[in-house]
Amino acid sequence: MIRKPIRDNATITSRAISPTGGPQTSNKVLVTGGAGFIGSALVRKLLDKGYEVTVLDDLSTGLRDSLPKNDRLKLVTGDVRDFDLVSSVVRGNQKVTHLAAQAFIPFSYQRPLEVAEVNAIGSINVFKACLNHDVKRLVHVSSSEVYGSAKYTPMDEQHPLCPYSTYSVAKAAADMWAQTFHWEHKLPVVILRPFNTFGPRESLPYFIPEMIRQCVKEPVIHVGNLETSRDFTYVDDTVNAMITALETQNIEGEIINLGTRKARKMKEILSLIKKETSVEEKDIVVDQSRLRPKDVETLVTDNSKARKILGWKPETPFEDGIRKTIKWYIDNGKAWWYERHGWLWRY
Ligand SMILES: NC(=O)c1ccc[n+]([C@@H]2O[C@H](COP(=O)([O-])OP(=O)(O)OC[C@H]3O[C@@H](n4cnc5c(N)ncnc54)[C@H](O)[C@@H]3O)[C@@H](O)[C@H]2O)c1
Repeated sequence: MIRKPIRDNATITSRAISPTGGPQTSNKVLVTGGAGFIGSALVRKLLDKGYEVTVLDDLSTGLRDSLPKNDRLKLVTGDVRDFDLVSSVVRGNQKVTHLAAQAFIPFSYQRPLEVAEVNAIGSINVFKACLNHDVKRLVHVSSSEVYGSAKYTPMDEQHPLCPYSTYSVAKAAADMWAQTFHWEHKLPVVILRPFNTFGPRESLPYFIPEMIRQCVKEPVIHVGNLETSRDFTYVDDTVNAMITALETQNIEGEIINLGTRKARKMKEILSLIKKETSVEEKDIVVDQSRLRPKDVETLVTDNSKARKILGWKPETPFEDGIRKTIKWYIDNGKAWWYERHGWLWRY
């Protein structure tokens, strides 16, 4: 049986040839979701490295302000659910990093269809466009949430997938499509599964930004479940791994976990943030509305595959990352992106 290539309605481009006849080297990279928390840190680092960067982002959670002014940066405002748009933006880029997603888990409880359309179908649009336009490397950004709570620790890439939320179901589906497109069509994709990431320009009311906000601004601190444990990586380290995955040869089809291999309880993190913001006496109130219907108890990664095939390791000690994040928040108007958008979501 002859396999029909996936073409849809996008133009099929031929391989770019340089004037000397050899393959053209390109420093053009597309970052979907590049105006978001992790995406904007990635864009900064790519520009520092001399890349020409295009960002595709609908600015639903990201902010234009998080992107630097730079002649080598172009922002296209639009939706990954629009295949024709995705295809036109992918064209001309040899490298793509796909981060665009509805990433806030509580949002997915209320809007499962939208989350599925953006996180899963939007991802298929990106995969198809990468195939049609002969992209040489796609880094697809997944999430540790696809594993659900740890059945063993530390969690390697063989850990069974057991999504606990509609967000992570959609992320897991996108990963499986990415892998299947690699098998069926040789999509040159590397799937990264970051465990939790934190740092400046947080866009969503997750635990660390929320605890910093409340320690700095609120009279008492409202919390949900402080007994869960997560593996937190500072954002600069996460984006270093993404760039290495864009640039390392012969790793197509690999799935790679990113994290520090250290589980931290939320209550320990809160104590550290209270200490660093000098509010150790502030009272803590447990707020039932902040409890998740089905909470992942533990996420902690075995990062040996990332160390081995990317030569990557996290460099920023957790405490230093927390200090830098608090300093950024205070120095930059004490407003995370979700505060600027006026959202009342809670982790
Ligand atoms: N933050 C973490 O700890 C973490 C951990 C694991 C994985 N991830 C993944 O990393 C990626 C980035 O997450 P983040 O924390 O920076 O979140 P974020 O919300 O800041 O970034 C997502 C970006 O995608 C954009 N976007 C959303 N829907 C879109 C659409 N339909 N079309 C185009 N753009 C759209 C948003 O405006 C935003 O700029 C996501 O794929 C997320 O699932 C994040």
